Amino acid sequence: MTGPVEIGQVGLGAWGKNLLRNFHAINQSRVRLACDANDETCAKVSNMFQGVNLTTKYDDILNDDKIEAVVIATPPAMHYKLAMQAIEAGKDVFVEKPLVLDLSEGKKLVEAAEKNEKILMVGHIMVYHPVSLFLKKYIEKDELGEIYYLYASRINLGKVRDIENSLWSFAPHDISLIMFLLEKFPQRVTATGADYLQKDIEDVSFMTMHFADKTMAHVHVSWLDPHKERKLTIVGSKKMVVFDDSRATEKVWLYDKGVDTKLDYSTYGEYLNLRVGDITLPHVPGGEPLRSECTHFLECVRTRVTPRSDGRDGLRVLSVLQAAQDSLKQGGTPVDVNPID
Ligand SMILES: NC(=O)c1ccc[n+]([C@@H]2O[C@H](COP(=O)([O-])OP(=O)(O)OC[C@H]3O[C@@H](n4cnc5c(N)ncnc54)[C@H](O)[C@@H]3O)[C@@H](O)[C@H]2O)c1
Repeated sequence: MTGPVEIGQVGLGAWGKNLLRNFHAINQSRVRLACDANDETCAKVSNMFQGVNLTTKYDDILNDDKIEAVVIATPPAMHYKLAMQAIEAGKDVFVEKPLVLDLSEGKKLVEAAEKNEKILMVGHIMVYHPVSLFLKKYIEKDELGEIYYLYASRINLGKVRDIENSLWSFAPHDISLIMFLLEKFPQRVTATGADYLQKDIEDVSFMTMHFADKTMAHVHVSWLDPHKERKLTIVGSKKMVVFDDSRATEKVWLYDKGVDTKLDYSTYGEYLNLRVGDITLPHVPGGEPLRSECTHFLECVRTRVTPRSDGRDGLRVLSVLQAAQDSLKQGGTPVDVNPID
């Protein structure tokens, strides 16, 4: 089939509006129907996006045979039901992160998509970020050397969720990015966190992924913090790099720093030689990550190519989250991560 992909979107809240703005603007898609259960939200959206038809009933999307793909941007607790209904109605699906809030439900969804030959893509937006793609190439060219460890922070004073905790809400971004860059899956996870504002919903979480080869990746997430920070630091044997996504420009800082070893030495101190070289700020051509993500989904719908962040990628992230959640509830005990094919 040619022509724009006919889209139905459900969930037009804070983030859903950004998705709608993109699918509305991209030539390869046409938003045929947009849905939100809330009348007032529908009225606001109708003023913002001229020509988009609105409904408060999801069934209107499911029953519209011209709609080829459904975009889901509701709270995650609704993702499973809405995504399963869309697949069963014969639609391709883009679902926001996290895929769902339960690993076994995630598996059922992936099985249903595969059985029905439907595209299932998860909104792991960081793997569409131009800086992530730049870093990936940089790592592939071995510019950083062996990657020793990484640490990420995604913190601010922001929207407090009332079902999923900070880990499930924010960490999918960092987990998906770290696994994308390293191309490996952690063996074990440790996590701690605390609930200050609502019982059993952790506002702040500290999670560490341990990989088979000694690589470590730490993720700090919180919606209860004075700083607004979205940062990833990668420490390699040759170079170190900081990806600071809170900056409007100069998001990448490359540090030619490390510890070299000398062949000719008399003491251990001489053997280890600190290398403090240049700091460079490479220009990475910009572009809205969300626009790239939406365009990728439309391409996958048209070409039937598996999305970069497909359902199985969603499961890998869920598996890490599940292990982290178990560790968190056990006060930080290491928990093995169930591998996903
Ligand atoms: N990629 C990102 O950077 C990013 C950022 C923020 C949020 N998100 C994700 O986007 C999703 C939505 O988050 P949000 O902040 O926009 O939430 P939100 O609460 O602002 O909006 C959710 C909307 O869904 C509607 N809704 C709920 N159930 C519905 C149903 N059954 N039928 C129709 N409408 C229904 C609500 O009325 C609401 O307007 C979540 O999965 C979240 O994790 C992603």
